[in-house]
Amino acid sequence: MSTAPRLVDLRVGDINDLNSVVHIMNRAFDPHFGEAWSSSQCIGMLALQGVWLTLACEGEALVGFAMARAVAGDGELLLLAVEPERRGRGIGGTLLRSVIADARDRRAERLHLEMRAGNPALALYRAHGFTQVGQRRAYYRGLTGEAFDAHTYAMALTD
Ligand SMILES: CC(C)(COP(=O)(O)OP(=O)(O)OC[C@H]1O[C@@H](n2cnc3c(N)ncnc32)[C@H](O)[C@@H]1OP(=O)(O)O)[C@@H](O)C(=O)NCCC(=O)NCCS
Repeated sequence: MSTAPRLVDLRVGDINDLNSVVHIMNRAFDPHFGEAWSSSQCIGMLALQGVWLTLACEGEALVGFAMARAVAGDGELLLLAVEPERRGRGIGGTLLRSVIADARDRRAERLHLEMRAGNPALALYRAHGFTQVGQRRAYYRGLTGEAFDAHTYAMALTD
């Protein structure tokens, strides 16, 4: 039997997918750090102008997602998460490249993101050209009330 990684299918998600998205998010983000969004935050964000949801599916199963926004030339990667058991197979990178391409199509000139300081996802973002542009002290509040800094990153989408 082949052990080659399966390719994922990407598709556009909508409000009907949010239950599955929140399920993945709650498994993907360690609750200790307080990074995951609530269902109502996702519903509210998806309703905003310029926001889109990209789903990574293996067959019928959702294995990862990205939510992003592009408005007035500025893009933001809002969320990126992959099922813990499916990591390290390129699914996060596939989602990230799709968001970058979609943001370009939507005429964004820069793509921003914000991430907890120390999140190992930084290696993935650096590999795709993001560099740090700022810091927000005590931005995330973890389960025990502990505060964690956020770092902001950006990449240019213009040549
Ligand atoms: C970040 C995330 C989406 C990456 O998904 P993925 O499918 O594993 O990504 P890929 O397989 O395409 O790339 C993995 C790369 O990301 C980096 N990386 C991301 N998360 C990592 C982790 N927890 N531990 C180690 N490396 C990690 C590594 O550089 C790795 O590269 P390598 O495979 O060459 O070693 C996934 O780890 C995740 O869901 N994390 C929790 C949610 C999160 O923190 N999201 C980012 C902030 S919004």
